[in-house]
Amino acid sequence: MNILKNNTKYHLWNPFTNLEEFIPYKDVGPMTLVRGEGAYVYNAAGKKFINASGSLWNVAVGHGRQELAEIAYEQMKTLCYSSCFQQTHPKAVELADKLCGLTGNVYDKVYLGCNGSEAVETAVKITRQYFRQSDDHTLHGKYKIISFKGAYHGVSYGAMSLCGDDLNEKLYSPLPEGILHINPPHYYHNAYNTNNPEECERKCAESLRRLIEKEGPETVAAFIAEPVMGEIGILPISNGFFDMVTEICKEYNMLVIADEVTTGFGRTGSLFASENWKVRPDIMCLGKGISSGYLPVSAVMVKSSVYKNFIGKEYFQHGSTSSGNPVCSAVAMGNIDIILRERLTENSAEIGAYLLDGLKEMMKERNIIGDVRGKGLMIGIELVKDRETKEPYKNSEVFNIVADCASQGLIAYYNKNIIALFPPLIIDRKIADDILTVLSSSLKTGKAESIKKKMRLFSEFASSKKMTAIDKK
Ligand SMILES: Cc1ncc(COP(=O)(O)O)c(C=O)c1O
Repeated sequence: MNILKNNTKYHLWNPFTNLEEFIPYKDVGPMTLVRGEGAYVYNAAGKKFINASGSLWNVAVGHGRQELAEIAYEQMKTLCYSSCFQQTHPKAVELADKLCGLTGNVYDKVYLGCNGSEAVETAVKITRQYFRQSDDHTLHGKYKIISFKGAYHGVSYGAMSLCGDDLNEKLYSPLPEGILHINPPHYYHNAYNTNNPEECERKCAESLRRLIEKEGPETVAAFIAEPVMGEIGILPISNGFFDMVTEICKEYNMLVIADEVTTGFGRTGSLFASENWKVRPDIMCLGKGISSGYLPVSAVMVKSSVYKNFIGKEYFQHGSTSSGNPVCSAVAMGNIDIILRERLTENSAEIGAYLLDGLKEMMKERNIIGDVRGKGLMIGIELVKDRETKEPYKNSEVFNIVADCASQGLIAYYNKNIIALFPPLIIDRKIADDILTVLSSSLKTGKAESIKKKMRLFSEFASSKKMTAIDKK
């Protein structure tokens, strides 16, 4: 079966994809998914996979929800599009109200966007304008933003700069000025010379204070972080750390921004991870699970204490055509209703703990697992050659493991030597057990195992070659 229609050529420039490697292996059928239902996705050959990566960490309510399709259909017929520039419409207003309500109205203003990068970019601009328009003139020089080196905040220039990624610097510099980094409290990698999580976080908070002092507090505007860092390899950070940081930021008149693009909407077992901090962040960025990928939606939640600097001053010079799109807003509301109605946050906490326990148990038999960590249904498995030296598995070796998982019907996310699980929040213990069974098999090492894996891949290759090859013409 050819997934491309007659005369269709492959012109797609896939994001974050090495096309030169990807296209040659099109003969085996690159992961070409054509259908989804619940926690499962299916390729062109009809093979069923557990979607343990939650697609791109975003499909919270699972695939194929008819009620969301119906909401989109009805809204498209009623009002497919209307701008929110100098005018408004019910769906954007209702979504903003719903989002504020979910936070107990701690937040008062909501900017709607289309993706996480846009949410972070918007938060950066709000922060800078907030200080520039302060009634207190001594705050006008604040523009620097501190983030964790190795964080992931998105791809647009502002968001990308916050990631502190050397490759971005090499390829895309000059990056915007005034972005500073500290090392995250990665206890497993002995950040701050300790593998004790509490001590590591305390030292990290101290290093934040030192950086602010060194740069000059009159120039530093905000600190931004993911409550559980994703791309770096799933690093949960304690509420206590954020309480310390919030105190420091208050002392230096800085804003705290939580990037909850990944952690929001139940992913970590709380509706929002930062709801467990003593003081909620001034700004919270949301995306991914807000619409489960049915349509592109993101949001920036802002406290009235921040918005006050926009009243009677220059209004926010920001917005794009699709901000608050009515169909996207309606679908996001439908998606949030499902998360609440089906108690998916609670399910995420329960099944996440079950999976984490299962993986910790698996560590006893699979030496290749150096560390397992996570919160709710956001779990990382770090693969090492040696638990003492923590020598990492190579990217290509981890790719082989993930490919073996796929040949056994499990799609897992990986980055460097970390396999990450972000399944839809609807999964039950049976699916969690299936995930554990496949992982346990794919993480087995040794000669016999590697022969088995090769045979599994070979039979996959043979069947997919027949059925899913993309036309080379
Ligand atoms: C924490 C975090 N922030 C921002 C983003 C960027 O979101 P998007 O890919 O929707 O632009 C991501 C994406 O993975 C993310 O994990």
